[in-house]
Amino acid sequence: MHYLVTGGAGYIGSHMVKLLFKQGHQVTIVDDLSSGHRDAVLGGELIVHDFSDRAFLDQLITEKNFDGVFHFASKILVGESVSNPAKYYRANSFATLTLLEAMRDHGLNHLVFSSTAAVYGEPQSTPIDEAHPKVPVNPYGASKLMVEMMMSDFQRAHGLNYVALRYFNAAGTDAEGLLGERHEPETHLIPLALKAVLGQKPPLKLFGQDYDTPDGTCIRDYIHVEDLCSAHLLAMQYLHGGGQPTAFNLGNGAGYSVQQVIDVAARVTGKPVPFELAGRREGDPARLVADASRAKSVLQWVPVHSDLETIIRHAWQWELKMVAQAQEKNI
Ligand code: UFG
Repeated sequence: MHYLVTGGAGYIGSHMVKLLFKQGHQVTIVDDLSSGHRDAVLGGELIVHDFSDRAFLDQLITEKNFDGVFHFASKILVGESVSNPAKYYRANSFATLTLLEAMRDHGLNHLVFSSTAAVYGEPQSTPIDEAHPKVPVNPYGASKLMVEMMMSDFQRAHGLNYVALRYFNAAGTDAEGLLGERHEPETHLIPLALKAVLGQKPPLKLFGQDYDTPDGTCIRDYIHVEDLCSAHLLAMQYLHGGGQPTAFNLGNGAGYSVQQVIDVAARVTGKPVPFELAGRREGDPARLVADASRAKSVLQWVPVHSDLETIIRHAWQWELKMVAQAQEKNI
C-alpha cells in the first residue's frame, strides 16, 4: 500500500512512519517541520510542506495514487488553544477541511484521524467509553471534535471511510530507542519528570495534591506510542476490509496518578525525581481513564508495551541517548 502520513516528522507520526515502513508499505510524509524533526523520519519520502495547500495536495494525490491517509498533523497544546483559539481552529479544523475536500475530489476514501480524549471534556462517568457525551472544555478538543463532525458529514454525503482515534495520554518511545518525544515547549508529565532527573529542567511542578483520588494527584491513562501506532494500522486494515466509519478510544484502561508516575520514574532512573508542589493546573480533570474495549474487540487491538514501567523505561532510554549525543557533539 502507499500511504500519505501528515505530521509524520512529529512524535506519534514518526513512530507510525517507522511501523508502516517496517511492514513494507510505501510512505509519503508531508510535514511543515513547524514542530516535527527531519531526522525523525526513518523511512519513506519526506516532503516539507503545509498539508493544507490545496494546489499542492491536488498534485500530490494525483501523482502518488495513495491507498489511504494517516492524518497526524495538528497543534496540540491545550493551554495555547485557550489563549490563541484561532490558531487551533485554523490548523486543526480548517486545514483538515481542505484535506477532506481534496480527498473527496480525488476519490481518496480511507482516512485514519488522530483525535483526542479532549473531545469528551469533563468526564461525567469513568472509564470513558465512546458514547460518553462530547463537550470539549477547550478549543483544542473542540477543534478535533469539529473534524470528527466534518468526517461524519463527508461520509454521509461522499462516502468517506474514516476512523477517528481518540488518544488518551500518549507516552513512551520506540523500544529500539531510535525515536522519542521532542516537543518544544515540553509540557507533558513523563518527559518533564525525566528531564528534571537529568537536571535539564527545573524540578517538576506537581499540579495539585487535593484531587478526589487515592493519593490526591490526578489520574491519567498512559498509552505507549507503539501501541497507539499498532491501532492505527489495524484501523486502516479495518477500513480496507469494509469496516464502517467510527471512532475508538485508545488507552490502556488503567489509570496512574501523577505521584505514581513520579515513583516509577524514580525506580526506573535509580534517582529521585526532583519535584515541588504547585497549585492545580486550570482545566485538569481529576481522572481520565479510557474504556478501550471497543478497539480491542473490533480491531483485535492488543496493547503490549503499555505498563507504566515499560513506558518510562523506553522514555528514559531516549533521554539518555539525547544526553550522549549532546556530549559527543561537544567533544
Ligand atoms: N502534570 C504535572 N506537572 C507537569 C505536567 C503535568 O503535575 O509539569 C500533571 C497534569 O496536571 C496531569 C498529568 O500530569 O494531571 C498529565 O499531564 P500531561 O500534560 O502530560 O497530559 P494531559 O493529561 O494534560 O493531556 C494529554 C494530552 C492532550 C490531550 C489530553 C486528553 O497531552 O493533548 O491528554 O486527555 F488533550
